[in-house]
Parts: sequence; structure tokens; C-alpha cells
Amino acid sequence: MKMKIIELDGHPLLGNALTILRNKKSSGGEFRNAANIVSKFLAIETARDILPVREVKIETLVGQTTGTVIDDSKKIILVPILRSGLAMLPMLQEVIPNYDIGFVGQKRDEATAEPKEYYCNIPVNHGSPDVYRVVILDPMIATGGSAAATIKLLVEKYKIPQEIIYLVAIVAAPEGLELLSETFSQVTVLIAARDERLNAKKFIVPGFGDFGDRFFGSEKPKEVI
Ligand code: URA
Repeated sequence: MKMKIIELDGHPLLGNALTILRNKKSSGGEFRNAANIVSKFLAIETARDILPVREVKIETLVGQTTGTVIDDSKKIILVPILRSGLAMLPMLQEVIPNYDIGFVGQKRDEATAEPKEYYCNIPVNHGSPDVYRVVILDPMIATGGSAAATIKLLVEKYKIPQEIIYLVAIVAAPEGLELLSETFSQVTVLIAARDERLNAKKFIVPGFGDFGDRFFGSEKPKEVI
């Protein structure tokens, strides 16, 4: 079985926002607005895949009809990977009516590019059967290491089945997607763009540079060639 990868198609607003994210001259404000736009597209696409609906009979002002509403009785957990995943969280909160939020802190060791878990708080009892979908947020799938470590944690420690795990990212490198699909063939991945490759420093090419630094403004954007 192959891992399902859903890639957003070329909407003009999406293309425009991705170009702003890629442009090293974009200001912090432009970068954040563009990231919000892409995250909103991803949130809507994620919702298409994960939200159950039910039929309701309603009265309009001129008659009766049957419509659909979101069945918000199902437990959905959003899991941003700290800290960049936090950038995507508000847009998912806007479109998903009912959710709990878990956090996983993965820090990339800049020398080895390996992820190191430093925080974990998932609002679910280990092995609890009532979780309907879990949505991991990580804007950049570079080596795939942080995402893989987070999925492994959810599957092994919290006994969450791969089939209900979604990984949502703004951009992915082929190397990261390959690593994930080798290990987690039943997880679904949603991305806005698939870039060319990783460079020697394990940054995505052409990519955006350091997403967290640019979104949160914590460091002056620097080239990573
Ligand atoms: N994390 C980033 O912020 N950028 C990359 O290119 C890779 C990982």
C-alpha cells in the first residue's frame, strides 16, 4: 500500500502566496499573511477529508429542504509540532468546529538535522478508541524526521491507528515524503507544494528558508546555502 499524498492544485491565490513565502525579500508581515492563506487552503482541504456530515431537515424562509451539517460529536485532535506548526493552527481552528489540541515539541539538531523531542502533551488516554482523526501540523517536511518521530509517538505510545492520522504541511521535499511513505503507508499527507530537494544543510530547495524564524520574527532571515 502506498501512502496517500494529497497535493493542492494551482489556485491563483495559492500560487501567489507560495511565491511570497519563497521570496527572500518578503517582509515578516507579508510572510505571515501568505502562510495564513496557504494554511487556510490546507485547512479547507483537510476538512473535506476528515469532517463527517449528517443530514438535517430545515425550514427555509420559503419552504422546507434537507441540508447537511458537520457532525461535531467526533473527537478530532490537532497536533502542531512546536514551534512552526503553531503558525498553521489558527486556520485549522477556524474551519474545524470541534477539536482538542495536543502539542509535540521537536527541535531540529542543526548539526545532525535529527529531531529531538522536548515536549509532549496529547489530550487522549493511551489506547482510547474514541479518537476520530488526528491532524499533525508541520509547515516544512524536509528530512521528514520530526513528522516521522511524531507519528511514531502517536502510534506507539497513544495507540492511534495510522489510518486516522493526517499530516498537513505547506511544502515537502521528496526525501521527506519518501521516508514517511516507507514507514507509514496508511497515513494521509496533505501538502500545498512539493519542492525539488534538500540542500547539504537539509533545507528545502527552493523552499522558504527557516520557516519559524520568518513567521515568528525571532531571527533576521538568513540564507541557508
Ligand atoms: N525547516 C525549515 O524551516 N526550513 C527548511 O527548509 C527545512 C526545515
